[in-house]
Amino acid sequence: MPKCAPTYNLRMDSTPFRQRRANLLARLGEGIAILPTAPERIRNRDTHFPYRADSYFHYLTGFPEPEAVLVLVAGQSPQTILFCRDKDAEKETWEGFRYGPEAAREVFGFDAAHSIAEFEAKLPELIADQPVLWYSLGHDADWDARILKAMNAVRAQSRAGRRAPPVIYDLRAVLDEMRLIKDGHEIALMRQAAAIAAAAHVRAMRFAAPGRFEYEVEAELTHEFRRCGAQAPAYPPIVASGANACILHYVANGQRLKDGELLLIDAGCEVAGYASDITRTFPVNGRFTGAQADLYDLVLDAQSAALAEVKPGAPFTAPHEAALRVLAQGFIDLKLLEGSVDGVIESEAYKRFYMHRTSHWLGLDVHDAGEYRQGDTWRTLAPGMTLTIEPGCYIRAADDVPAAFHDIGIRIEDDVLVTAEGCQVLTEAAPKTIAAIEAVMRG
Ligand code: GLY
Ligand code: MN
Ligand code: MN
Repeated sequence: MPKCAPTYNLRMDSTPFRQRRANLLARLGEGIAILPTAPERIRNRDTHFPYRADSYFHYLTGFPEPEAVLVLVAGQSPQTILFCRDKDAEKETWEGFRYGPEAAREVFGFDAAHSIAEFEAKLPELIADQPVLWYSLGHDADWDARILKAMNAVRAQSRAGRRAPPVIYDLRAVLDEMRLIKDGHEIALMRQAAAIAAAAHVRAMRFAAPGRFEYEVEAELTHEFRRCGAQAPAYPPIVASGANACILHYVANGQRLKDGELLLIDAGCEVAGYASDITRTFPVNGRFTGAQADLYDLVLDAQSAALAEVKPGAPFTAPHEAALRVLAQGFIDLKLLEGSVDGVIESEAYKRFYMHRTSHWLGLDVHDAGEYRQGDTWRTLAPGMTLTIEPGCYIRAADDVPAAFHDIGIRIEDDVLVTAEGCQVLTEAAPKTIAAIEAVMRG
């Protein structure tokens, strides 16, 4: 059994969350911010989906319970207030521990905390006479209705001299900018999520063999995630053998692995809310064929070219453009496409075999928050940003495609942190050269 990657520290330290709240308050300047966490969702009858806090709420609080709202009052005397569930001995017997407002205030470091049962009554009072309401309309219709009801309740008091906030600004837009640059606490968690997922991929490589099922490989991955302290997969694992690898979001994971096929695994885990996102592709029987190796090394070269572009000041698109040029040349060399590299890129002929982009932000969300463009230009990379580099090629069987390449799907995906010097690959413990993969599979 592979050695367990380090697990995260379960003791609650509110320092990074308090710092983020202070940073946000400084950015807001004035007004009141309202940020509810995610609702619980029914899976069937009286059973819920595993609960996960809203990412923005988690970013600012670390508070894990549903039915909670963060209120921030910006201005001369800033205030942080949590509304949460009361303690309830009966419910705690059935469902587990609840902090209750008093302990929540203490442990998570708020200025004040109240029962969520008081929220609706207190809301008009809180927002009255505030110059700005910071709230993200349009994400949750129930919450939108509550907020607008409170606005109307204040408007109804106009003769008493109360005034509802005259503007509503998008709170998430401010938080998106903050979330784009990870702090030390976030980077440490992302390193752990990356290390655990890398160990899981190694375990999957060792386990895979002709005759096993895709779901058995999935079980190895999720076993390793949980064994190492990750709370959950960051997204449904893709375990795609043979032609299934050409389905980008394949999650059925029900097929038997066949000798001679490749297996594409896209799987990452979540540690204290933070995602990793790794893809590796390897032969089910442990040995690449010539055609598989040709395509694999092409994707690996594309990935190396993309990684070389990850550095401060580079436009977000630079890694994608670098990967694309290598892939386009490779598709021409392997007689999958005709023409010149510029021509293949200009006409987008490459999209037949490479139809997705090379990167996305990574963090609390696997496709993380943060704008990719600023005004008319692509955002430039800066230290503290985390993103994936994930070129691939997907070649379905067709008459005009050499038979040796039929139904081969390959993706190689790593998670990278932009540093002052360039970048650090957080997921490098997952082998990716042909020699390294074959050695692990032999071992
Ligand atoms: N696993 C989702 C992605 O690679 O973007
Ligand atoms: Mn990805
Ligand atoms: Mn992925």
